[in-house]
Amino acid sequence: MATTPVKDKNMLRICQIMNEDIGHLYASAIQYKQHASLLEGVFTQLEADLKEHADDDLQQAAWLTEKVSFYNEIPSITVAPIISATPSLVSLELLISDLITITNAVNRFRRHLAEITQMGVEFGSVRKFYEEMLDHEEEHLNSFKNFLSPYMKESDPAGDLDSSFTDTQIVDVVKLANIIRG
Ligand SMILES: [Fe+2]
Repeated sequence: MATTPVKDKNMLRICQIMNEDIGHLYASAIQYKQHASLLEGVFTQLEADLKEHADDDLQQAAWLTEKVSFYNEIPSITVAPIISATPSLVSLELLISDLITITNAVNRFRRHLAEITQMGVEFGSVRKFYEEMLDHEEEHLNSFKNFLSPYMKESDPAGDLDSSFTDTQIVDVVKLANIIRG
């Protein structure tokens, strides 16, 4: 009987990367679904975007899961930490947490894509998938920022902020603006 070949170091690392992303994609899908349900009737367009994003993330997790299996590794079922709504979390705070999650995903995909690209042509299909995921995530980030931009004008807060926001929410809008501009 032939001895089991030592697994390629890059293949193991790529499975580790994909498993890390599977955990984050499951987490963000759950988070966006929950937040979308709480935004119902508040930010209708954003609610639809979040639902669509959750579906995208689950599909991406499914693709990565099949790829990890293809490389004869066990796909992760560990869900990364989720930022859950609480009774005291108002809609804008939810949006801040979603913005952070999307920004983290963009940064993580960029980092992972760079690492995968260095591994060479052997992992071309994974690299291509990460390029697509990154494009998608950047689109989600841009539409989030576009949506929130009307609430970010600090120079004339009284005029630019929706009068229905409470003082606490206005503070959060400023925090949000700093994150976006950061
Ligand atoms: Fe995503």
